[in-house]
Parts: sequence; structure tokens; C-alpha cells
Amino acid sequence: MAVILDGKAVAAKVKAEVRERVDALKAEGKRIPCLAVILVGEDPASAVYVRNKKKDCEEVGFISRGYTLPAETTQDELISLIDELNADDTVDGILCQLPVPKHIDSIAVLERIAPDKDVDCFHPVSAGKLFRGTPAMLPCTPAGVIRILDEYSIDIAGKNCVVVGRSNIVGKPAAMMLLDRNGTVTVCHSKTKCLAEVTKSADILVSAVGRANFITGDMIKDGAVVVDVGMNRNAEGKLCGDCDYSSCYEKASYITPVPGGVGPMTRAMLMENTMTAYGIHENEER
Ligand code: GUN
Repeated sequence: MAVILDGKAVAAKVKAEVRERVDALKAEGKRIPCLAVILVGEDPASAVYVRNKKKDCEEVGFISRGYTLPAETTQDELISLIDELNADDTVDGILCQLPVPKHIDSIAVLERIAPDKDVDCFHPVSAGKLFRGTPAMLPCTPAGVIRILDEYSIDIAGKNCVVVGRSNIVGKPAAMMLLDRNGTVTVCHSKTKCLAEVTKSADILVSAVGRANFITGDMIKDGAVVVDVGMNRNAEGKLCGDCDYSSCYEKASYITPVPGGVGPMTRAMLMENTMTAYGIHENEER
């Protein structure tokens, strides 16, 4: 039986810390941090994510600017908006919700966002700084993973950390961040042979594959820490992670639930990154 890593509670704490800093800025009559969120098209899941980001901004006291563009928006029009926001000294963070419509090259769009406003940390400069070990901000989901481990005083140094999934958004940066914390890191993917043997070696298992019930209890070792980044629908249409919760719960020492684990942490870390970007902007000559 595992201790549940309560992402909702930790996220509330992170947001309360940000809120405190914003309240202090307000009390001093200072400029308030601002996050600009761009949504292109009508993807319903993206609309929910964007709405939640706006809610989070309200909760911590940020100014949120929403740009909802029609699906026919051209790449040039989107790039022009990003250029405008890059040049706007009242905007600290810029996030373009993914996916963008097929006729737009998402890489070109993400590369256009100024690195000092790149609160998603998807720009190659942000990725490069993370790789080098000198990040200005950290990608929200893996940052949320590390933060929740820290909150429960789960030591990473010297532990066997197995990351399942090698996406640019989660798997790769999570591996870098665990390595930076002196974990011994293995990254698994769809071509990994004898996956269960590798996952069984994990003291800390981070799963980000996007397949319901992909990791079962017999694939983890007794006492493992299980961090489930997956956000899937099972056969009954119910929200679930990558890990079969009941069998993993029986064997793990700690486990994140889905929902209520990594998801709320991702949202909270976006608020923290926007606060960090604000700090960068306020400390530089303008
Ligand atoms: N779409 C799904 N997750 C994300 C995210 O973290 N950032 C952006 N920009 N788009 C997403």
C-alpha cells in the first residue's frame, strides 16, 4: 500500500506561494506579472486547457491575456502576434497551446517565442540550457514531477530512475532533470527490449507514454515510487494514467493518482515559470 502523492495539494501550495509574491507586488504598487495564452482553432481539449490556465492566472493574481484565433489563421499571422507579444514589455510569458492546425509549423511557432518569455520551455534555447544544466525556467510537467518528489522528501540522488517515454515535452526533459539531481537515469521507449525488467529496476518510475494501464503492478518493484504522467481514457471513457492504479498501489511506496497527481502540478508550475519570467524582466534594463 502506497502513500498517495497529492498533486492537488502540492499545486495549491505552489500557487499560494506565487499568490503571496503577487500580493506583495500589488502592495508595493509594482507592475503585475502577465501571461499571454494563444489558442488557434477549436480543439475542445485545448479550449479546456486554456480556460484552466486563465483560471490559474486569476487565482494567483496575474493578468491573463487570451488570444483566440480562428483555425484558418495563417502561420505568418500567428508569428506576427508572437512578435508583437515578444516586443510588449507588459507581457512576461507567452504560451501557444498545442496542437496548432496542420497548416502551421509548430516548431517555427515555438522557436519564435522569445526565450525569456518561453514559459513552456519548448524553445531550443530553453532545451539547450536545461541540457547544459543552467535552465532559466523548467518545462512545466517534469518540473511538477520533481517538485512533488521534493515535497514528500523523496531523495533522487543515487536512485535508479526509469523514465518511460522520450517525448520532448516530458520524457527527455524529465530524464535531464533527474540526472541533474544525481539520479541514475534510464529512458525506455517503444523499442526497449524486456521493458518490465527495466521498469522493475526503478526506485523511481516516471511514466509518460500515453497508454492506459501500460504499467502494471508486476512491472514495478516493491517500494517503488510511481509517478504517472499519463492522461488517458480507458475503455469505459474514464480518465486514467499509464499505470494500472490498483496493482501499482499495492506494491509502490508512493504513487500519484490520475487525476489529481501530475496534472495540477503542471498547471501550478506554469504559474511559477511566469513569476520567474517576470523576475527576469524586472531585473533587466529595458
Ligand atoms: N498542449 C498539451 N500540453 C501542452 C503544454 O504543456 N503546452 C502547450 N503549449 N500546449 C500543450
